[in-house]
Amino acid sequence: MSLSIHENSARADDLRQRIERANHQYHVLDSPEISDLEYDRLFRELLDLERDFPELRVPDSPTARVGAPPQSLLAKHQHFTAMLSLGNAFTDDELRDWEGRLLRVAGDDVRALGYTAELKIDGAAIALTYRRGVLERGATRGNGVIGEDVTPNIRTIRDIPLRLLDSNPPEIIEVRGEVYMPFDRFERMNEARARDGQSLFANPRNAAAGALRQLDPSVTASRPLRFYGFAAAAPSGSDLPFASQWDLLDTLERWGIPVESHRNWCADIESASEFVARIEGSGRASLNFGIDGIVLKVNSLALQDELGIVGGREPRWAIARKFAPDIAVTRLLDIRVNVGRTGALNPYAVLEPVEIGGTTVKLATLHNEDLVVTKDLRIGDWVQVKRAGEVIPQIIAPLPERRTGIEQAWRMPRQCPACKTAAERDEEEVAIYCPNVACPGRQLEGIVHFASRGAMDIRGLSYARIEQLISADLVHDVADIFSLTADQLLALERYARKSADNLIAAIASSRKQPLSRLLNGLGIRHVGVGAAQLLAHHFGSLDALASASEEDILRVRGIGEIIAHAVRAYFSNPTTQVLVEKLRDRGVEFAEHGFAATDGALAGLTVVITGTLPTLSREQATELVVAHGGHVTSSVSKSTSFVVAGDNAGSKLEKARNLGATVIDEAELLRRVGRSQTTE
Ligand code: IVH
Repeated sequence: MSLSIHENSARADDLRQRIERANHQYHVLDSPEISDLEYDRLFRELLDLERDFPELRVPDSPTARVGAPPQSLLAKHQHFTAMLSLGNAFTDDELRDWEGRLLRVAGDDVRALGYTAELKIDGAAIALTYRRGVLERGATRGNGVIGEDVTPNIRTIRDIPLRLLDSNPPEIIEVRGEVYMPFDRFERMNEARARDGQSLFANPRNAAAGALRQLDPSVTASRPLRFYGFAAAAPSGSDLPFASQWDLLDTLERWGIPVESHRNWCADIESASEFVARIEGSGRASLNFGIDGIVLKVNSLALQDELGIVGGREPRWAIARKFAPDIAVTRLLDIRVNVGRTGALNPYAVLEPVEIGGTTVKLATLHNEDLVVTKDLRIGDWVQVKRAGEVIPQIIAPLPERRTGIEQAWRMPRQCPACKTAAERDEEEVAIYCPNVACPGRQLEGIVHFASRGAMDIRGLSYARIEQLISADLVHDVADIFSLTADQLLALERYARKSADNLIAAIASSRKQPLSRLLNGLGIRHVGVGAAQLLAHHFGSLDALASASEEDILRVRGIGEIIAHAVRAYFSNPTTQVLVEKLRDRGVEFAEHGFAATDGALAGLTVVITGTLPTLSREQATELVVAHGGHVTSSVSKSTSFVVAGDNAGSKLEKARNLGATVIDEAELLRRVGRSQTTE
């Protein structure tokens, strides 16, 4: 049954609203109401609709967040009104001086509505233009007057609404704020880059600013960026629809713009100073993003106008109260190595405990051997340590002038510290890794990753619970998760009937996760979410991928030699083969729903192409098969559904005949997928 264009258009609108609501719940409110599976389903339905009916495509569709073509140059954008910077105060006395200046200009009125205190987010400033509620443009700050148009990049940031949640939004308004990268995501990104031998970002701010200015939006989309709004501007002549800064923040929040939650209304400078002390003392350590101070703003917008701007670039009505520097000097006691989930051996520093910005630091990340060598770190060195917010502190540099001669150079061990297997190093890589897929050092991190939100998404299977299951000897690999019973869980501490039943139910439903999630969860080296999706969509089932040759894998668009090699090596490993069979026995599904295995004329079929076809190149024939739901492998086996043979087909054709496989020609292939040879 086909729907009318009106019905399709209504359905597309409905899907867009649901997807954007889900984005908002997930990214801004942190309380999703629909499962990731349901989200994927809605997203796919919308993608399909827009593919089939291009007239339904709109620029503010959630599907348009990614996929814009690369630009050759970033265009300039002139801001409505200058994006100002802020004056600084380094002490409470300087804050009082600031208030003194306000009182001299605007009198006691300043005190009537008090101040808004906000965290000063350490990221990159941007301005978002919404016209009648629809995101029209995103621009960087630039020199404050002219910035760069980075609209396609901005659209990839999931917590920025493409449409404001207001039935009567202003005709045009610019929402200003900061794009930043959360610490945990920054760390993970840098770890992945270290594993892949790519250069590392110095800090989340640089990473965010760099990601924003990419010419190719798909690069921006692959970087974990977030946004907080805290200011607004209107074209000259029109007023802002807020009475105070507090009202502005409330309104942004109502519109669906993420607003940082620690904001505080302060009646006077004393309570503002208390807020600063609270955040600098302990609040800051629990944040998952960098801040470099507190911004105090006169709350009333009318008073802000009256107070105006000093020197053309700083508002008199706002000030940044900066924190004390967060660098300390301590001793590097030792360098140790842990094993990550993909086997990467990561060195880390053991430090003499030192207090930085309210927390005691004992460990620092070192990422890889080259970093230790480049910085010339020696055990026993005095080192400068920074906790510029990064959850895991970093060593800036050693202090060679304090060396006494007893310091010792360090070398990466040649064996895995957990299982003693000889470590390996890929030629083009900086990373050294343990090749043993059954290495106990990889076990915990590997299972945690498997259960995580981006992979099998098993709700309730937290880090602590996995540790508990491993030490209770119930779980040794990811497949063991699927044979757990509620009674086994009930025998452990911290489980009640309900929590045990809930976890078993979550495990049961995760068996149906799409192949891309399973692949990501297995922790194959170099295979993250993106590669997992490409592989899943191409091969359609785990068995097809597991039996694919390196050549077959290289045929997947977007997959290069490093990944193809890693995937092949993974599936060739006997331990993997045992694991795959265990997963199958325990009911884990191996298919990518809605893709190759179920859709199209060749759904679920395994096809071998051999010889020279009359009109199609090998790549075109492969694409055709994949586009119709089949997958292509290079060698003929019992699971081959049919062989497409051209001229000079050779040994594969012979093997196909021996195995009794169906052999067809190009014309028959075209007929099977409903394409006549002569019309194209
Ligand atoms: S208000 C007119 N509020 O800090 C005042 N700025 O050093 C405009 N920043 O360019 C800025 N968090 O990008 C304000 N809560 C916050 C902020 C904040 C971070 C950035 C902003 C600005 C820079 C000035």
